[in-house]
Amino acid sequence: MARKILVTGGTGYIGSHTVVELQQAGYEVIIVDNLSNSNADVIEGIVRITGQRPVFEKLDCTDMPAMQALFDRHRGIDGIIHFAASKAVGESVKKPLKYYRNNIVSLINLLELMPKFDVKGIVFSSSCTVYGEPDSNPIDESAPIKPATSPYGNTKQINEEIIQDFIHSGAPIKSVILRYFNPIGAHPSAEIGELPLGVPQNLVPFITQTGIGIRKELSVFGNDYNTPDGTCIRDFINVVDLAKAHVIAIERMLENKSNESVEIFNLGTGRGLSVLELIHVFEKVTGKPLNYKIVGRREGDIEQIWANPERANKILGWKAEESIEDTMASAWKWQLRLRERGIM
Ligand code: NAD
Ligand code: WQD
Repeated sequence: MARKILVTGGTGYIGSHTVVELQQAGYEVIIVDNLSNSNADVIEGIVRITGQRPVFEKLDCTDMPAMQALFDRHRGIDGIIHFAASKAVGESVKKPLKYYRNNIVSLINLLELMPKFDVKGIVFSSSCTVYGEPDSNPIDESAPIKPATSPYGNTKQINEEIIQDFIHSGAPIKSVILRYFNPIGAHPSAEIGELPLGVPQNLVPFITQTGIGIRKELSVFGNDYNTPDGTCIRDFINVVDLAKAHVIAIERMLENKSNESVEIFNLGTGRGLSVLELIHVFEKVTGKPLNYKIVGRREGDIEQIWANPERANKILGWKAEESIEDTMASAWKWQLRLRERGIM
């Protein structure tokens, strides 16, 4: 019988790509999402790719009675991949309690329910934001956790600690904590992708929206950093590559391949690319010049960070495969598809 995986935030950007990979690997998927930052139409995109319709439950993970009823309705959930969270760094500074409530209560509810319903493991979406400004790059999992620079980032640190404390207390569950670097791109079919609401805060959706004319120009936040071209450096990781790591992680937990109850992995390419370099890749793959200007630094930005992904490479047997060119081309194809469908 197929294993049942609960995917919270499964209609979101990374969640939807992971649902596709789970289904293609033979898992049965139940999505829980409150649609606070996504749309139920995403399900149709998933069905067009895989030919399978995941169960969809429009629920809020902070609603304990509703979550308990969900586990009652769907007996036999083997594992959870927990994406559901609020993720806008800037908004979290303005509305910290929204972030603490949503991101922390959601996790606590799941952890409380897991032993009751005999759910074996949880994969948690963490972030390279826990490292702050690294002392050196590439950064591995043993690097110190720096004080968070936003309530959002703090929720990731606190959630990592909650998982560790709960498991160290003897809870009969396992966890894999995945620290994502900068996920970008879309499924190569362009049936699913990133759909930011309002003005994008992240670089790639801003680039593609500028390329298609929704935005007049891209502001590049600072070219006076201590980097070769003066712009910030990130580790941009293809979202499908990232999604595949979740399938490996859940399988590892459910098949007890590790003796550790909690494992932490960086998910990145191991290669740093500057903001200007990424813009130039976009221009190369689309054949279009991008309208951009250099402006002042954005408050709170990290100068440079990229992953040492060796732990994930060796232990998970996972590696980021997609080239940055194909990844940017997928982001552009998705933007064109949104236009064709009259969405943007
Ligand atoms: P997303 O906003 O596209 O997806 C999150 C989904 O969770 C959305 O569909 C939203 O509607 C849902 N959701 C939010 N709160 C909920 C709740 N209380 N109950 C049910 N559903 C809820 O974001 P994403 O980019 O796919 O990110 C997924 C996860 O990965 C998040 O935890 C995020 O913090 C983390 N992460 C993202 C990035 C990134 O750059 N995208 C980087 C590092 C970590
Ligand atoms: C990348 C680079 C910007 C927009 C954020 C979160 C982090 C993690 C990933 C979840 C930076 C520059 C951007 C623009 C620009 N998310 N930029 N013009 O800042 O690495 O990380 O997403 O955990 O927590 O903080 O990603 O895409 O916002 O920015 O010049 O219009 O692009 O200054 O150098 P970031 P980003």
